[in-house]
Amino acid sequence: MLAQAVAKLGLGVSAQALSALGCSVRRLSTAETDLKTVLSEMIPAEQERLKKLKKAHGAKSLGEVTVDMAIGGMRGIPGMLWETSLLDPEEGIRFRGHSIPELQAKLPTAVEGGEPIPEGLLWLLLTGKVPTKEQAAAVTEELRERSHVPPHVLKVLNALPEDAHPMSQLSVGVMALQSGSHFAAAYNRGTHKTKYWETVYEDSMDLVAKLPRLAAMIYRRTYKGGEQIQPSHSLDWAGNLAHMMGYEDPGCLEMMRMYQTIHSDHEGGNVSAHTTHLVGSALSDPYLSYAAGMNGLAGPLHGLANQEVLRWLKDLTAKLGPHPDKEAVRKYVQDTLASGKVVPGYGHAVLRKTDPRYTCQREFAQKYMPDYPLFKLVSDLYEVVPEVLGKTGKIKNPWPNVDAHSGVLLQYYGITEENFYTVLFGVSRALGVLSQGIWSRALGLPIERPKSLTMDVLEKKFAAPPPSS
Ligand SMILES: CC(C)(COP(=O)(O)OP(=O)(O)OC[C@H]1O[C@@H](n2cnc3c(N)ncnc32)[C@H](O)[C@@H]1OP(=O)(O)O)[C@@H](O)C(=O)NCCC(=O)NCCS
Repeated sequence: MLAQAVAKLGLGVSAQALSALGCSVRRLSTAETDLKTVLSEMIPAEQERLKKLKKAHGAKSLGEVTVDMAIGGMRGIPGMLWETSLLDPEEGIRFRGHSIPELQAKLPTAVEGGEPIPEGLLWLLLTGKVPTKEQAAAVTEELRERSHVPPHVLKVLNALPEDAHPMSQLSVGVMALQSGSHFAAAYNRGTHKTKYWETVYEDSMDLVAKLPRLAAMIYRRTYKGGEQIQPSHSLDWAGNLAHMMGYEDPGCLEMMRMYQTIHSDHEGGNVSAHTTHLVGSALSDPYLSYAAGMNGLAGPLHGLANQEVLRWLKDLTAKLGPHPDKEAVRKYVQDTLASGKVVPGYGHAVLRKTDPRYTCQREFAQKYMPDYPLFKLVSDLYEVVPEVLGKTGKIKNPWPNVDAHSGVLLQYYGITEENFYTVLFGVSRALGVLSQGIWSRALGLPIERPKSLTMDVLEKKFAAPPPSS
């Protein structure tokens, strides 16, 4: 109200000042730039679309489920609706139909000709439309307005040992924020289910807005003696994350924008996305469901692989020196396999080619750090690892994934603490999983409940019939 009055009067009051007064600066945006207004206009048509789809095709089969699929981590079973992105095994991820190079060409940027800002991607993920510069700027403003992290959160973090893994700290920090859930409060008040999405939107945008601050708090208390850096009111969401962590190099800010864009979403079946979706389907609020997803991202076969890659690279250089030849690298890869470990950063459950997120980061490195020795090592590995993995005959995709490259970029800019890397992945992943969470509630998707079976049931189902007498 006050914000509108101020706008009408044309008073030059800053966003921060209004925010400090508890006013909604977002109300200053127009119908075209206010994300929630745009979404609310889209939702009825999408609900109708889903209803028609169910009516026309609901009983049709999407294919066979084999015993291998049931015991093999449900690979290949289409069992979920996920609107924000789709993964093609050969081509890689598309966000609402747009490839990574297309995002780089089309989304608004913070610097002329630079990397996309994740706020533009968030608009795209939620609405399916590429935002104008003004729409992306309105998201930046909305997130800035929502970004305050209440003081109890740092107190909760400070109750943890300093060496608590940063991913555990992220999960605990998000749970400490949960007391502010608008959805949980609305549910308790008995809100009608058609209105669920509205408070899920509020929670999701609040959480996305607060995550850079929370991540930076974790970083500063774990690695920088606890001295916190206040957000800059002139920086975008991802630029501010780098700034609050203590990094100001313009290249580092661009890297963070690119990093936060490309890690955001990878369709619905991966562990973090699926977990967030599953937990949200029980009407657990966005804080509860995202924290659950982050606990999955913290697994070494999923998001923690970016940390594992760096450890593996450090061990490699400790053993072979900073400039090993390819033969020595080949032997090191073979030794990793022989010791019963995976080569981190390689392979994928769905992809069957080099991950375009790897390629995007490689191109960034070629532009910003072509002579960096660690980049050279990662490039050498690209020439050696797929061949060694391929020779095992069992690995379906010997090519590098996103995690094989991200740590090198972070190391270059001085972010050397690899245990923190998965937190940066997690902040980005919020954009995808929470966008889908808003749509899941808007579309009224039901509680998830796939069927499980015992070995006994499977054995009996396919047992040879007794010989007829
Ligand atoms: C991502 C990953 C979990 C996918 O697993 P998956 O879908 O089971 O992959 P595959 O079907 O190709 O696996 C077949 C076999 O190859 C192995 N394999 C796959 N990738 C491997 C790798 N990078 N190094 C060593 N072995 C690997 C699997 O462990 C499996 O072995 P098993 O039959 O002895 O159990 C797997 O490739 C992996 O562990 N990669 C390393 C961790 C990583 O980078 N994770 C991030 C993914 S974005």
